[in-house]
Amino acid sequence: MSTILVTGGTGYIGSHACVELIESGYDVIVMDNLYNSTEASLGRIEQITGIRPKFYKTDLLDEEGLKKIFAENSIDAVIHFAGYKAVGESVAKPLLYYENNIKGSINLYAAMKEAGVKRIVFSSSATVYGDPVRVPISEDFDVHTTNPYGTTKLMNEMILSDIAAADPEWSVLLLRYFNPIGAHPSGLLGEVPNGVPNNLVPYIARVASGQLEYLRVWGNDYPTVDGTGVRDYIHVVDLAKGHISAVAYALEHNGVEKINLGTGNGYSVLQVLHAYEKACGKELPYKIMERRPGDIASCYADTAKAEKLLGWKAQYGIDEMCRDSWNFTLKNPNGIE
Ligand code: WQD
Repeated sequence: MSTILVTGGTGYIGSHACVELIESGYDVIVMDNLYNSTEASLGRIEQITGIRPKFYKTDLLDEEGLKKIFAENSIDAVIHFAGYKAVGESVAKPLLYYENNIKGSINLYAAMKEAGVKRIVFSSSATVYGDPVRVPISEDFDVHTTNPYGTTKLMNEMILSDIAAADPEWSVLLLRYFNPIGAHPSGLLGEVPNGVPNNLVPYIARVASGQLEYLRVWGNDYPTVDGTGVRDYIHVVDLAKGHISAVAYALEHNGVEKINLGTGNGYSVLQVLHAYEKACGKELPYKIMERRPGDIASCYADTAKAEKLLGWKAQYGIDEMCRDSWNFTLKNPNGIE
């Protein structure tokens, strides 16, 4: 079976992808610098699948370390998750984001080229669409970014597209995630944000567990169903399964494909909050605040291309996403240890 290198494989989405890869019969190698995750995730992957992936504690900026991984293993494809991902932090520290997410990724691509590994699935983001002219969003929409984090995603898309244009033997899948939430149904893997969460569902989880007092709802004057922001939330297991379909496609085809990974359904902040109340069996307090700078009103995916090209469609609904998020939160009050 093929061997897949997963960069960022101890992280939230990466660890779920490792589980699905192993369960699909792939050999998995994980590379991570543990900046935003813990090696304990490998033990959780083993608890779920019975297999502990081979692990390299390596930073994308360590060129020799990257070359070592490719020299020591016969890698068929790479899934590239590793990167800093906090929008607000990227605005405050742009150079940190460009050095890690761009320079680091170029190091990875150079190591791949040198080793003759020409198949990659890249973790991109719907944030490249900026404020869309309409919804649902399809892959042919204009792209424009509004923060350094989003710009690093778009720049990686462009770099990989140029590499593939120069060498038609490359296969590049650019997966544009919408809003990943939830956790593995076992409760063994899930999202463990650093500090106070910026994102909606991890924040709600902290309110439900009593660690935070109430949810601040960033604006209720948007042109949406109830005035609060609408997003396309996708279960992290659905997202991980999308990577299995993508890597299978990448192993069989050459060229570049940009693909949305979303559910095609939009939910408002208050709709998610109420779904979470059902999941945790508690009323969750919230306060309506001013809009958060940079937020858009509504964003959800046209999922036709993923269905047609990859034969993939998200299966879980918002209730299962909140159920699994709450189950993970209850079982891991101190995160993954
Ligand atoms: C969702 C909605 C907020 C927190 C970001 C990145 C994107 C991707 C996902 C990486 C919005 C509202 C949130 C809170 C709230 N990350 N909200 N109170 O901004 O859609 O996307 O995370 O790829 O690239 O941009 O996600 O979860 O921050 O916000 O009211 O405490 O919840 O206003 O409407 P977002 P989010």
